[in-house]
Amino acid sequence: MRLKDKVAIVTGAGTGIGEAIALKFAQEGAALVLAGLPGDPVAQVAEAIVALGGRAEAHLGDLAEEAEARACVERAVGAFGRLDVLVNNAGIFIAFADAEDYRLEDFERTIRANLRTAFLMTKFAVPHLQKSRGNVLFTGSEAGINGSASFAPYGGSKGFLHAFAKGVALEQARYGVRANCVCPGAIDTAWTRGPEGPIPLEAQEGIDAGVPLGRRGSPEEIANVFAFLASDEASYVTGALWLVDGGVTPAKGNVGDCVPEALRAPPVGALPLRHSHEGLRCKEVYRAAKKRD
Ligand SMILES: NC(=O)c1ccc[n+]([C@@H]2O[C@H](COP(=O)([O-])OP(=O)(O)OC[C@H]3O[C@@H](n4cnc5c(N)ncnc54)[C@H](O)[C@@H]3O)[C@@H](O)[C@H]2O)c1
Repeated sequence: MRLKDKVAIVTGAGTGIGEAIALKFAQEGAALVLAGLPGDPVAQVAEAIVALGGRAEAHLGDLAEEAEARACVERAVGAFGRLDVLVNNAGIFIAFADAEDYRLEDFERTIRANLRTAFLMTKFAVPHLQKSRGNVLFTGSEAGINGSASFAPYGGSKGFLHAFAKGVALEQARYGVRANCVCPGAIDTAWTRGPEGPIPLEAQEGIDAGVPLGRRGSPEEIANVFAFLASDEASYVTGALWLVDGGVTPAKGNVGDCVPEALRAPPVGALPLRHSHEGLRCKEVYRAAKKRD
């Protein structure tokens, strides 16, 4: 129960990594406000947590809107009396195209969902975190460190979050508030698997080969790191980027192909995940028609 008596907001909590963070934090004793877009299964995740004996409320709305972000923070303080942890996890990955084909509308949607949400939520949460000496966590990406072909704007949006997290850490340290950023590699959510995802099927097949551990990560493997960073066990960690990427950042070539099949299975999870692959529900995904090499 590393988060016993803590109150946390998790954004993008209806699906994928956010669902896993929500369930993990509940298991660790946190009371939660779970935020997502209308259409996301946020209420179902909250109901699952309550059914397991936890405390969780759903907040539906576009957190890139100032009023929605403010209302979400107020919801947590109103319902549970305080705020200890903000997890800025909401984001989109909705286009696969080189710069010359990348549509301006997709660029703007990406900036809105990935940057504005995190900025606004942080802005409204920080006064409460200063009172509780809490912390802010961000979901960055290895793409924000390495860059990624055919989704360069997405990688750029994550690079912004990395620097933003560090800046917040530096300015808020004097109030006892920590800020850190978890940078996943390819994780098994709607974004990296299936015909509906942004990555073409032939490119999806190559993902695991580039990862030294030979596979995508599971949402739960990311949530485990969030739980540590959110807890008082991480009291000396701030301004940090935590790569949770199976080793892909330093890797060169198809190192994943060297991993024997028996070592490629993800660990058996403990969380009752139901919505890992539903993150693209209600979202338009664009892939440039241009034939690629
Ligand atoms: N899946 C991966 O391979 C991967 C890799 C690195 C980083 N990440 C990051 O992890 C986070 C979660 O991604 P995921 O793979 O679980 O995808 P996902 O689509 O399952 O989850 C993202 C959630 O955020 C919600 N959301 C988007 N915009 C929002 C807004 N304006 N207001 C409220 N909610 C909003 C979505 O509706 C969705 O439920 C993202 O920040 C992503 O950039 C994912």
